[in-house]
Amino acid sequence: MQERIKILVIGSGGREHAIVKECLKSPLTSEVIVAPGNGGMSQDARCLPVDVSDPSAIAKLAKNEAVDFAIIGPEVPLCAGAVNQLEAEDITTFGPNKKAARFEGSKTYTKDFLAKYKIPTARYGNFSEVKPALEYLGTYPEIGRIVVKASGLAAGKGVLIAENRAEAGQFVRDILENRQFGKSGDEIVIEEFMEGRETSLHLLVSGKQFAVLPTSRDHKKIGEGETGPNTGGMGVIAPDPTIPTRILEEIIENIAKPTLSAFQSEEIDYRGILYIGLILTTEGPKVLEFNVRLGDPETQLILPLFEEDTVEVFLAAARGNSLSKYLTPTGQSAITVVLAANGYPDQYETGVPITLDVNLPEGVDVIHAGTKLDSNGILETSGGRVLNIVAKADNAAKAFDKVYSACNHRYFDGQYFRKDIGKPVPTP
Ligand code: GLY
Repeated sequence: MQERIKILVIGSGGREHAIVKECLKSPLTSEVIVAPGNGGMSQDARCLPVDVSDPSAIAKLAKNEAVDFAIIGPEVPLCAGAVNQLEAEDITTFGPNKKAARFEGSKTYTKDFLAKYKIPTARYGNFSEVKPALEYLGTYPEIGRIVVKASGLAAGKGVLIAENRAEAGQFVRDILENRQFGKSGDEIVIEEFMEGRETSLHLLVSGKQFAVLPTSRDHKKIGEGETGPNTGGMGVIAPDPTIPTRILEEIIENIAKPTLSAFQSEEIDYRGILYIGLILTTEGPKVLEFNVRLGDPETQLILPLFEEDTVEVFLAAARGNSLSKYLTPTGQSAITVVLAANGYPDQYETGVPITLDVNLPEGVDVIHAGTKLDSNGILETSGGRVLNIVAKADNAAKAFDKVYSACNHRYFDGQYFRKDIGKPVPTP
């Protein structure tokens, strides 16, 4: 008889809502619970409160609920060691353990790892004191872009692309002296700015093996044509239509395979997702960063783009089993467009009522990110990125038409979205 399992999903964003939807589709699932969840998820699954930065609280909740399988969405619980605590309670868990999660929790560690194994990345220096950091900055031209990063987790805010040495030097001081990011700024990376297109590739990793998820192209700027301030991401297209097969093969040969073999050398038992942020430079693809979890909003469209049951696939990776039969592409394209609150990414209003009384065409889905239920059970906005409209179709052009026809409905007052997500761009 087929096993049926009770699943706990940790997180509260669009990524976790997409994971919950995949779990609910699976014949392996008996029940899904979420902690802490959001307004949309509470309409699909039982939501329970938890402090996601507290691995013991997560493990206690999972044990009390007699969970069979836990899926950890965000980086904070992964870096804090939630997987180790859950596995200590004999709960199979999808996500890298604390040692493996250092690839996101420490940018200095990742840069040294990449350098040690000659995996292509930008020239860099790691520092914990201002004086040597400023001396190193002196090796860069006075005018020109330089990247300064707080090493630890900083919710996407710990990176500056400085336009010149003076600006970079000020950010070095802000992090190391003024403690702008607290402990996350105990160390910094200074690195050269890489010219080129940004893209990303998610690997599903099961110890020694990996399987490749579709490429995806995130759009981080608030404005059309990549203008204005950075956001958590305003939309994604997958597969990335500007990545020729030749470049994908180069990424796999020169980055993914050496990374996996370096994990073995370092005795890192990596199980879960490795999200490789990349720049396609004239010298070939180079690593911008590693993340140890699925991207958000990338998850919302890459999970529906492979044939197999997500729960079966995640279980195989979590158990360290073979992945050879998994991740068959559906051959389709998908686009997700983020509907943001008016004013985002600066000050924005919350508590705005949301209406979802729209007939969505086949292949279109609404995923919740910043939503909650008020005391009367009415759905309202609770964050900057509120909803994700996801459309899947036979090709990118059809997905583009579908997603934007669904965006032209007023879900909440003041909704803002970019109109160019997935619009064809010239191939590099
Ligand atoms: N969408 C970018 C990220 O999840 O890091």
